Amino acid sequence: MCGIAAYIGEKNAYPIILEALKRLEYRGYDSAGITLYNEGKTTIYKETGAIVQLEKSLGKQSPKGKIGIGHTRWATHGAATAINAHPHHSQDKRLSLVHNGTILNHYILKEDLLANNFSFYGETDTEILVNYLSHQQKKENLNLLETVLRNAGKLEGRSVFVIHDKQDPEKLIACNLGGDLFIGKGKGKQILLCSDKNALAGYADKVLNLLPGMVAVIDKHCHIFDLNTQTELNPEWDKLKLNSEALEKGTYPHFMLKEIFEQETAISQTIKHLTKTSPNRLELVLEPYRRTITRLRKITIIACGTSWHAGLVAKHFFNELADLPVYCEYASEFMPNDVGSGDLVIAISQSGSTADTLQAVQAAKDAGATIISICNVDGSAITNLANVSLLTKAGPEIGVASTKAFTTQLAALLLIASQCGEWRGYLSPNKKKALWQELKNIPIKIKEVLRSNPKIAELAQKYQTANNFLYLGRGTGFPIAMEGALKLKEVSYIHAEGLSAGEMKHGSIALIDEKMPSLFIAPKDEHYDKIMNNLLEIKARHGKIIAITSETDKQIEAEADDIISIPTCPKLLYPFLTVVPLQLFAYHVALLRGTNIDKPRNLAKSVTVE
Ligand code: M6R
Repeated sequence: MCGIAAYIGEKNAYPIILEALKRLEYRGYDSAGITLYNEGKTTIYKETGAIVQLEKSLGKQSPKGKIGIGHTRWATHGAATAINAHPHHSQDKRLSLVHNGTILNHYILKEDLLANNFSFYGETDTEILVNYLSHQQKKENLNLLETVLRNAGKLEGRSVFVIHDKQDPEKLIACNLGGDLFIGKGKGKQILLCSDKNALAGYADKVLNLLPGMVAVIDKHCHIFDLNTQTELNPEWDKLKLNSEALEKGTYPHFMLKEIFEQETAISQTIKHLTKTSPNRLELVLEPYRRTITRLRKITIIACGTSWHAGLVAKHFFNELADLPVYCEYASEFMPNDVGSGDLVIAISQSGSTADTLQAVQAAKDAGATIISICNVDGSAITNLANVSLLTKAGPEIGVASTKAFTTQLAALLLIASQCGEWRGYLSPNKKKALWQELKNIPIKIKEVLRSNPKIAELAQKYQTANNFLYLGRGTGFPIAMEGALKLKEVSYIHAEGLSAGEMKHGSIALIDEKMPSLFIAPKDEHYDKIMNNLLEIKARHGKIIAITSETDKQIEAEADDIISIPTCPKLLYPFLTVVPLQLFAYHVALLRGTNIDKPRNLAKSVTVE
C-alpha cells in the first residue's frame, strides 16, 4: 500500500512528482506529501486527503528543487492526519524518508530510541525508521549508503523506502525489503523512482526493477547494491514500453466502467498471449513440470479478495477438466504444512504485490512446493518468486475494484486446468480444443452482456436504497455471488453477502423480508432446478428477487421481480458472463449513491501490508 515517487534531475521536481503521485494514488489516498531539496534547504509539504488537496493547499506557490521524494498514503500505523503523512524527517531534520509497507519490529526500535532521548511527533513506524537510521548513522559515523547497507537487514517485515540526507544532498538512497520500486531513466540524466512501472510513462525510456534485497544509490547515475553481500551489482535495464492511453479514462467517467467494458479485449489478449503459437506458451512454460502435473493428487490455490474468488471458480475447472481436487486458501490463512515437495501451488494476484499472498507463496516455496503465479503485472514481486509465471493481459487495472483482472484470471485458470487435464489423460485433445474454441467466443458474448448496461442502470435506480443485499449461487455461481457482493460493498458501501444458495436455508434466510433484495446467479446449468427452489423459498418470505439467467423460461419470469439475461455457453464458462452484470450493478448503485467509485474509502489497490 502507499505510493512512492522520487525525482532527481535537471527539471523542477515538484510537478513531476505530483503527476507521478496522481498516477500512484490508487495505492492509497488518505494523505500525501513531498520533500524538496533546494539550495541547502529541505522543505516538507504535507496534506490530508487526496493528492489534489496537497496541490490545492500549495496553491500558486510552485515549490522549487531538483531533488525530491513524494508519497501517497494508506494509513497503517497512525490515523490519516497531516502529521502522520510522509515524508517523515529525523529529529535533527537531516534525513527525510518515504516508506511503503510496515516495520514489524518498530516497538523494539522505538524503545531503544526513547532511551537515547529521541521523541516522536506522530504515530507511524516510518518516523521510527527514519530516526533509527539517523541514530545508527551518527553512532557509527557513517554515510547514508553505509548506514542503509549495515542496518536495513535488521528491519523486520516487508517494506520499501527512499531517503534523502541534507548533508549529502545530491543523491537519494532507495532500499527494497519486499515490495515494488521501479527506477526509470529519462532524457538528460533524469531519474524517476515509482512504486509502479506504469507511473513512469512519459518520463523514462529505460527501467530497472529494484528487487527485494537491493539498495540503489541515485545521483546523476545509479548504482545498485546487494543487501546480503554488500557488493555492487550490475543489473540489466529494460526498455520501457508503455501505452499511456491505458492509464487514462478516455471517454469513460470512471476507470471501473472503462475496465468493465475492456473485458472483451482483455480476455482475448490473455488467451492469445497464452495459446498463440504451437506448442503454445502455456505448454512451453509448464512442460518442465509435466511429470509433476501428471502425478498430482491435489492443487492448492492461494489468493486474496477477488483473486481468491477466481481461485474458487477454478476449483470447478480443475475438478471437471483434470480430475484434480483443489484447496483454495485465503493467503492470510494459508498453512504451509498443507503443502510439501511434489505439490503444486497456484498463486493468483492482479498486482503481484499483495503482502499476504507473497508471504504465503514464500512459505509454500520454502516447504518445497512448485509455484505457478497468475499475475497481471510483469516484473512484480510474485512473478519473481514463482517457478512459473503466467501473465494475464488485462492491461493496467486502475479502479480499486477489480473487474477485468478477474475475468482474465478465469481465462488463464481454465487454460491451465484443461492443459493439466490433457496431460493427465482426463481430457481428450479434441475436447480441449473444443473448449478453447468456446473460450475464444466468450469475448463476443461479453459484448452482448454489456449491451444490458442501460437496463442494469435502471435496476440500480430501483434498488439503490436497500441497505442489505444477498447474492446467491450454486456451483461456480457461488464464488460469483461472493464476487458480486464484494463489488457492491467496495464501491457502494452497502452491506452485501455472497452465499451458497443451498446453504442459505441453514440460517441466513432469517434475514429475508420485503426490504431485502436477493440477486440469484441462475444460468441454465445443472444447478438450475435447485436454484429455482431456493428462489421460491425467498419469494415465499416476500424477498425481492433479481435473477441472472441464460434462458428465460416462464417459471423464472413469473417468480423473479427482475431478470438480466445473458447468452448461453458451456456450463463451465458461465462465470465469465454472470459476473459482468454484477460488476455493472455495483457500479451504477455506487454512481447513484455518489461514492468515490475508483478510489472507495478505506481501500487501496495493492495491499502491500499483512
Ligand atoms: O492484487 P491482488 O489480486 O493480489 O489483490 C487482491 C485483493 O486485494 C483484491 O482482489 C481486492 O479484493 C480488490 N479490491 C477487489 O475488487
